[in-house]
Amino acid sequence: MSRRILVTSALPYANGPIHLGHLAGAYLPADLYTRFQRLKGNDIIHICGSDEHGVPITIAAEKEGITPQEVVDRYHTANKKVFDRFGISFDYYGRTSSETHKKTSQDFFLNLHEKGLFRKKSQEQFYDEEANMFLPDRYVKGTCPKCGYAEAYGDQCEKCGSSLSPTDLIDPVSALTGNKPVVKSTDHWFIPLGELQGDLQKWIDTRKDWKSNVVGQCKSWLDGGLADRAVTRDLTWGVPVPLPDADGKVLYVWFDAPIGYISATKEWAAEKGEPELWKEYWQDEETSLVHFIGKDNIVFHCIMFPAMLMQHGDYVLPENVPANEFLNLEGKKLSTSRGWAVWLDEYMEEFDSDLLRYVLGTTLPETKDSDFSWKDFQNRVNGELADILGNFVFRALSFTERFFDGAVPTLSNPSEKDIEALEQIEIQKKKVEEAYNSYHFREAINETMNLARAGNRYFTETEPWKTRKENPEACGNTLYVCTQITAALSVMFQPVLPAAMSKLRNQLGLPDTISWDEVNKSLVPADTVVSQGSILFEKIEDDVVDKQVKKLEERAAQNAGTPEKEYEPLKKETTFDQFISLDLRAGKIVSAEKIKKSKKLIKISVDLGFETRTILSGIAEFFRPDEVVGKSVVVVANLAPKKMMGIESNGMILMGEDSEGKLHFVETDAEPGSTVN
Ligand code: MF3
Ligand code: ZN
Repeated sequence: MSRRILVTSALPYANGPIHLGHLAGAYLPADLYTRFQRLKGNDIIHICGSDEHGVPITIAAEKEGITPQEVVDRYHTANKKVFDRFGISFDYYGRTSSETHKKTSQDFFLNLHEKGLFRKKSQEQFYDEEANMFLPDRYVKGTCPKCGYAEAYGDQCEKCGSSLSPTDLIDPVSALTGNKPVVKSTDHWFIPLGELQGDLQKWIDTRKDWKSNVVGQCKSWLDGGLADRAVTRDLTWGVPVPLPDADGKVLYVWFDAPIGYISATKEWAAEKGEPELWKEYWQDEETSLVHFIGKDNIVFHCIMFPAMLMQHGDYVLPENVPANEFLNLEGKKLSTSRGWAVWLDEYMEEFDSDLLRYVLGTTLPETKDSDFSWKDFQNRVNGELADILGNFVFRALSFTERFFDGAVPTLSNPSEKDIEALEQIEIQKKKVEEAYNSYHFREAINETMNLARAGNRYFTETEPWKTRKENPEACGNTLYVCTQITAALSVMFQPVLPAAMSKLRNQLGLPDTISWDEVNKSLVPADTVVSQGSILFEKIEDDVVDKQVKKLEERAAQNAGTPEKEYEPLKKETTFDQFISLDLRAGKIVSAEKIKKSKKLIKISVDLGFETRTILSGIAEFFRPDEVVGKSVVVVANLAPKKMMGIESNGMILMGEDSEGKLHFVETDAEPGSTVN
């Protein structure tokens, strides 16, 4: 039975270009899913577009000295184009500055307003007297009250993830002028999430198959208790609040942006000439709504937007929100401001889209943050796409071309091996299908590659280069089977490698319309003429990827003038009593020796005046034993003993750890046994 599925992926802010982090978070998994479900014959559309409102846009405009409209026009056009080149096959890519969107989001607001849902409250807000404006969200910076991070924004601390209000910040300053803001009162409309908490909780409890990282975040929001959230802002850029007493106010970007999914679906339907069709996707219970997003968007898609949809009442709620974690780059946190990112348009200048689709697809941050590195890119392209998939296809097709004039031989008297190999198609197909349906894209891709691996094994074991002379019937069977596996792969890899697989199907004389359910039906009949074609995947040389790493490093060095140093967040407040319950003493290291079998530990004897202690210290990667003898150190002297590597350790030597993880002694001149406070 065909399912109706509405896929959305997070509307990217039209304030900058698309990079690999965006792709790994939402767009690639959404595209893999959509392409797979289309092959399955399901009725699926993928909706996205530009998020063109909010403070991120106006701040970008101020930085560049252009208007917000110029910013969004530039990036909307560029991003739409690059997604298309990369093969992200949206059914519609809208924008939140459209007329349809303005009307849709204003109607949505009015609908909730007329139901009496909002609470209008006067609020104390920061105001910049020099810039003459209120300072919502990111217009204020300061120190996070939760973790002490000095660069927190008024809406969120990017260090600890806490969601904040500007007035929560310690030492707030205006992001516009650097001035200390004054406080002024202003009216806003709030969605009373606290009152809706019970309904949200009940609904989330029914979402049994959601990913644990998503459910975990929802739980912690709910456990913390939901607070009222303002859905309006004092700004000039955005959708005007459609009420007479709301002059100079616009809808909060996180109120209007998700409605953008609905507006874009309307525009899609209108463009198709069936203006009512969007309702089937948004208002029919039978539709599965799936939001693809990165983890920083979870609260908005799992709590805020569902609350809005529930209150409105005409819409379906998301069936799933398979949010991904973050992608790191070469082992470091991605940062656009520091230039530590790979931008998609830049990538596309040098490589084919399929290569990145594959490599990123196999390293998606599905359950935890993952890492993209150019070396890994090269290894996977060369070792998997070229050596496994490309090699298998090449062997199958070139043998057929050379020894059978390109005509696929007939299967006659197949051996057990031949039959088993054909059955492998069905086995892998099932596994891959299950993986796609449960949003395990890495697994789906690996299991697809496993079919090519099985094909290579079968080819090697049946030795067609030998049977060609000794047993032509067996040789023909091998090539028949390999052709069917190749054909199956050309469909099964379609979601990941659309360009290469389309080319491959062409070589096999297959149409572009084969469905997923046909892949195990021996797609290429005997006597079909196939062609070897050109190599599917060229290998990548070392210097090519080295150049990419160098480019990254150079850019990072250029941006190093404004290092955003990362500090460990402050721990929760403690009491003086708790602090003085630790007995810190001065000591002198009298001897030290390496512990065999341990890379980290050194066994140290410390003179504490009143006694000599044995302490195991994890410093072996930074100090040789002979270097530390004679050092005056600080010891936690009343720590419970702990056994490691069969030796009891009686205390801890204090060390400072720098940003590179290197350890430094905390030294004191006080004589051994002195107290340290
Ligand atoms: N623009 C937001 C971001 O990049 C995502 C918006 S998703 C939507 O984080 F639901 F609001 F559209
Ligand atoms: Zn914080």
